Amino acid sequence: MCGIVGYIGKGDAVAIGLDCLKRLEYRGYDSAGIAFFDAEENRVRSAKTLKGVADLGRVIDEKKTSPVAICHTRWATHGGVSEINAHPHGDCHGEIWVAHNGIIENYKELKKWLTARGHTFVSETDTEVVPHLIEEIIKGNKARGGNPSLAHAVREALGQLKGAYGLVIMDKTHPETLIAARNFSPLLLGVTDSGYVVASDATAILKHTNRVIYLDDGDMAVLTGTGHEVYDVGKNLRETTEHTIEWSPEEAEKGGYPHFMLKEIFEEPDALKNAIRGRLVPQEGLAKLGGLADVEERLRNAKRILIVACGTAYYAGKIGEYMLEEYAGIPVEVDVASEFRYRKPVFQEGDVVLAISQSGETADTAGAIREAKEKGVLCVGIVNAVGSTIARETDAGVYAHIGPEISVASTKAFTAQVAILALFAVYIGRMRGMSLATGKRVAEELQKIPELVAHILETQVEHIKEVAEKYREAKNFMFLGRKYNYAVALEGALKLKETAYVHAEGISAGEIKHGPIAMIDKDFPAVVIAPKDSVYEKMAGTIAEVRAREGRVIAIATEGDEALREAADDVFYIPKTLEMLTPILAVIPLQLFAYYAAVLRGHNVDRPRNLAKSVTVE
Ligand code: G6P
Repeated sequence: MCGIVGYIGKGDAVAIGLDCLKRLEYRGYDSAGIAFFDAEENRVRSAKTLKGVADLGRVIDEKKTSPVAICHTRWATHGGVSEINAHPHGDCHGEIWVAHNGIIENYKELKKWLTARGHTFVSETDTEVVPHLIEEIIKGNKARGGNPSLAHAVREALGQLKGAYGLVIMDKTHPETLIAARNFSPLLLGVTDSGYVVASDATAILKHTNRVIYLDDGDMAVLTGTGHEVYDVGKNLRETTEHTIEWSPEEAEKGGYPHFMLKEIFEEPDALKNAIRGRLVPQEGLAKLGGLADVEERLRNAKRILIVACGTAYYAGKIGEYMLEEYAGIPVEVDVASEFRYRKPVFQEGDVVLAISQSGETADTAGAIREAKEKGVLCVGIVNAVGSTIARETDAGVYAHIGPEISVASTKAFTAQVAILALFAVYIGRMRGMSLATGKRVAEELQKIPELVAHILETQVEHIKEVAEKYREAKNFMFLGRKYNYAVALEGALKLKETAYVHAEGISAGEIKHGPIAMIDKDFPAVVIAPKDSVYEKMAGTIAEVRAREGRVIAIATEGDEALREAADDVFYIPKTLEMLTPILAVIPLQLFAYYAAVLRGHNVDRPRNLAKSVTVE
């Protein structure tokens, strides 16, 4: 998730821009950059760094002042971490400059077209097509005697972009204009006493103003130092309303949420959209995973998939095992990476190792890949952090595109990993006999998932909070699930352990009769995941068994299931979806339950004791 800032006005754009950018550092980023108009030299100057924002001040002459500047902190998506890939990006003549947050899905086509028209690209980013496209449009407009303005060209360019963007754009020939545009990526306008500041996040601007104008998807704002015009998606000038932000800067950093964990849970609908965006062709029942193109043939002929991961990513992998076996008909084994690398795994021809990691830096997962690579096994990854060790060391992979996850307890990474595993099941399944109808069905249901997660967040939060309070005294919990939701039981228990320090065990519901049920009594509640799926009757039986031993039951049930309202003590409802996708929905109440349990116990939710976000040692 990149951070964007732009400023235009009577103030010092360089100083204001860098100050705002500094406030986006909490998001975590890999590089930063600035472009500003140097009136003395009548050119746009840019600077980029792989060090902190403070370093940008050093790279440019700090005494430089400017009426307009755009700045960026990058969280790499397309192209590795390098100064060349850092934003802002310029056109062929260093006149038009762009900073971007999001993904331009059709950048390859545009790049090809622009290259054929003589444009030279220097970076590997998707973003770089934007300044070149604007340059090309202005050139064409001038040649035809049409409107040569920057705003006109940007509007035309936006019409050709597919994907998500928050953009700030400046032009040497129009230093009196700054343009901002938004489509599925956050962007807002701050109104200051000296001019306008644009940012992807309110945190960035609060020191300078608390007066904001929110931009909608499809909006393009044309700013001069003294006025603004906002055009909607239909190119019509629209009325804008100024709002006042009441947050303190610290609250704003967390988007108004008390903790990053809660913020990240509420980001899950958007994170899922980002993980899925551009990767499904529902009408053809296909998944498009560009990062796997180079190894497509080897995947088509794969005989076995070995999933390796740690912690929450390992539980996502267990769900992937069920998906890939049921939908792609390929044998799968899942291992915690620390076991895999030391248990002398026997590899066979046609094996593929799939590593799953949010950070891409987990030492055991990286070690497991090295073990497999030494034996010549194809290694692919599902990773969030671009350019990380695991991303670099795997032969190919799929990025999660969910932005940085800051809370130690992983939430949005888990649901995104499961969604990508579903994409992977369609991708590989369709090569190996999955029917068009099944491919379509999964694709259609997967597309609806972000909205269904949003619905849970809209309807269940207060109730989950109350239930967490009700069970506050419980010192032990059992989490029970079967089939796809067995791993959700494991993940629900892990969340409670790591954030609330409450003993919790995740158990396969079929196993409780073989021992664990002996522990059940009125003080040992069970969380039972029982959506209406192929193992529903069995899970209803489990609930009855627990209740018969005086155990209290919190059930996760499908909306409309009144029988479980009767059978359980408390119910968290989730909407109906395809069985293989229920984990994405069922885990949301468990993440929230753990969160509120931790808050009620007064713990440091985002930084639980003894834990680290990224375990880079064995
Ligand atoms: C740590 C984190 C967990 C995470 C695990 C694997 O233990 O606290 O939240 O699931 O590492 O991390 P990875 O970055 O490889 O997904």
